[in-house]
Amino acid sequence: VANERESLYLVNEFASTYFQNTLHKTDQGKAIGLSYFKERGFTTETIKTFGLGYSLDQWQAFTDEALKKGYQLEFLEKTGLTIVKDDKRFDRFKGRVMFPIHSMSGRVLGFGGRILGADKKTAKYLNSPESEVYHKSKILYGLFHAKQAIAKEDNCYLVEGYTDVIQFYQSGIKNVVSSSGTALTPEQIRLINRLTKNITVLFDGDAAGVRAAVRGIDLILEQGMNVKVCTFPNGADPDSFAKQNTPEELASYLVDHSKDFIQFKASLLVEDAKKDPIKKADTIREIVNSISKIPDPIKREIYVKECANIMDISETVLFSTLAQIGKKET
Ligand code: CTP
Ligand code: MN
Ligand code: MN
Ligand code: MN
Ligand code: MN
Repeated sequence: VANERESLYLVNEFASTYFQNTLHKTDQGKAIGLSYFKERGFTTETIKTFGLGYSLDQWQAFTDEALKKGYQLEFLEKTGLTIVKDDKRFDRFKGRVMFPIHSMSGRVLGFGGRILGADKKTAKYLNSPESEVYHKSKILYGLFHAKQAIAKEDNCYLVEGYTDVIQFYQSGIKNVVSSSGTALTPEQIRLINRLTKNITVLFDGDAAGVRAAVRGIDLILEQGMNVKVCTFPNGADPDSFAKQNTPEELASYLVDHSKDFIQFKASLLVEDAKKDPIKKADTIREIVNSISKIPDPIKREIYVKECANIMDISETVLFSTLAQIGKKET
């Protein structure tokens, strides 16, 4: 129902304002939340731009305030802001710093909340549950703030997390969005595809992250987009790299280290196969599989030639493998 959706938006917008006020105007918010964001290097302006907030470390401070203001428990529960158990009510995001998640037009769809400190038993980030307005698979964090820059730069940087987006934006790289920890979906790619045909995927600097992300990239190729990738040195993620370097250093690092995805993958596979020559057959099928996702036959041919070179194998073998894959799929 349209009315219900509107009620959920209103609750989320109230919550976002409430969490921001808590961050900037309460003693606990300032001492814990604001100093946390400052330590991460976020300026007051950045904190305001992204509407960052804080949820008090009390069982139902937010819920009580929302009910007092006349918001219905039904909608507090449906947005997931309040958890109802028997006749008790709990604030879902108790004691967390808050990242509101906006729609393309700037409405608040839901939240990510990060715990403070190093409690290994609790999930580091907690997100709003699926609701009539929050569909995780169709949302890109940061898109509202990035959309103009994506169109203008004709490129979109894709990062893993909330803080990567915010730190990049503050460092002057505003064409940046995040899938927020979920595997990239076709719907998310379509959102970018409407603004630009060029994506640069930025990995967290751990090997596991790279392998996982590489698998998701075929989905981007399938939509006919051009994909570059960029890695960061020794364990850095985009956030920590941007924090440790000047905006100028960041900008030139991105220019110097962005590589074409197919070439990057071919080199990665060559590395793997060096340790184990028998693996080479598998790696050839894997790279050809990625090439087969590219809709444009001219681009496919260019990539076959380049990969033959990188992998030191004849073009003929690659072309016939490509033809085999094509047959299987039709
Ligand atoms: N994430 C999540 N739940 C978790 C861990 C991660 O939803 N328990 C999502 C968040 O959107 C997070 C993203 O996955 O931003 C990337 O995860 P990670 O690299 O672990 O977090 P960072 O964003 O680097 O977090 P931080 O720098 O705050 O530690
Ligand atoms: Mn819906
Ligand atoms: Mn990570
Ligand atoms: Mn990270
Ligand atoms: Mn991080």
